Amino acid sequence: MRFHLSFVLPLATLVLAGPFSFPLSNGFPFPDDAALDELFTRAGGNFTNAPLAPRFDDDSLISWKLQAFNEFMEVAFFTQLIANITERVSGYELSPQYEDYILNSLRAIQAQEEMHAYNANDAVRYFTNGSHIFPCTYFFPVSSFDSAIAFAQTFTDMYIGLLTNIQQRTARGLGTDSESIIYVLAQALGQEGQQSGWFRTLQGKHPSAEPFLTSSTRELAFSWLHRFIVPGSCPNIEAIPLRTFPRLDVLTPVRGTGKVVFEVPGPVDSKTQRMAYVNGALVPTVVPFSVVGQFYCGETVFSKIAAEFPFSHNVMHGMTLATVVKSGVDFITAEGVTNATVYGPAVIQVA
Ligand SMILES: *[C@@H]1O[C@H](CO)[C@@H](O)[C@H](O)[C@H]1NC(C)=O
Ligand SMILES: *[C@@H]1O[C@H](CO)[C@@H](O)[C@H](O)[C@H]1NC(C)=O
Ligand SMILES: *[C@@H]1O[C@H](CO)[C@@H](O)[C@H](O)[C@H]1NC(C)=O
Ligand SMILES: *[C@@H]1O[C@H](CO)[C@@H](O)[C@H](O)[C@H]1NC(C)=O
Repeated sequence: MRFHLSFVLPLATLVLAGPFSFPLSNGFPFPDDAALDELFTRAGGNFTNAPLAPRFDDDSLISWKLQAFNEFMEVAFFTQLIANITERVSGYELSPQYEDYILNSLRAIQAQEEMHAYNANDAVRYFTNGSHIFPCTYFFPVSSFDSAIAFAQTFTDMYIGLLTNIQQRTARGLGTDSESIIYVLAQALGQEGQQSGWFRTLQGKHPSAEPFLTSSTRELAFSWLHRFIVPGSCPNIEAIPLRTFPRLDVLTPVRGTGKVVFEVPGPVDSKTQRMAYVNGALVPTVVPFSVVGQFYCGETVFSKIAAEFPFSHNVMHGMTLATVVKSGVDFITAEGVTNATVYGPAVIQVA
């Protein structure tokens, strides 16, 4: 059932919006005190006034830089989505009976994401004596309300997976000093879950995908985010010293169990490499792939590979992360998969 289609009027008008760049009209990413006051109101709540974490370490600093980096992309997205709806861009004309509710919800989400980004960048400032992460220029692979909401669900699920990994790393790195950080991360995690549930509902899916959500890693999230950044547009991306992987793209729509064709911008070896899927609470699933094509684009060889996606057998609702991995490694978590990853991640959402 795709009842969300009825949210959109079948009318075409103007097309606009290219890449999105900051600042916003309220000065964000550097709003002044008056703009912050207005922001708390729009977002429905303030920042914490509890004491700061007693200790931070270099690994936590990278995590909070990455959170700011990720949240900037989300703020850019929701700002542009709201503009597309209010300016009645073709594909974004909502039926009058839904428009107010959807726009008001998106405005609250946009403000909440500004708060998340500001809060993360504020932690970065505090623990570096004043340096910030700067946002980039973004472009989004969507051109309709429906595709925008499906994409919003996916990047929100990716961010949930990232926060899960950041919690693990924080606990590992800071021990009992991690308590107040894990507390605030849990508050943000639940909030992102509410958002993902609403995006799923708008698509006619049930709000909660599966009993335990898919986890990710900082490297997989950072690699994936590069897809939506105008190359060279990030003033200080080098302040986030994380590995990135070459991309893995899904070429065939994934609707359930069956063969999926992927593409990577480089060579592959089906004898020493495998496809790994991370979904829910399951230990990652590893399957063989076959090479189904190769072609050159300039100097680069692209490989097409096919692998079975065991959707029904494993019951893989919600987000699945796929990566090409070196074989012969046993994985328990997304971190283990990341250590063996050669290409990825591709993000698959079925139901
Ligand atoms: C919201 O938080 C900010 C920063 O902690 C603080 O300056 C401001 O007074 C708070 N506003 C309210 C209404 O509590
Ligand atoms: C807004 O609309 C333009 C024009 O269709 C599109 O290029 C852009 O990706 C859209 N952005 C969002 C966030 O929907
Ligand atoms: C920030 O300043 C304090 C006090 O001068 C110093 O102890 C600390 O090492 C500085 N931190 C960084 C990341 O430069
Ligand atoms: C991943 O690699 C890092 C760095 O070599 C190592 O510290 C960590 O234990 C590995 N994690 C897993 C789950 O294999």
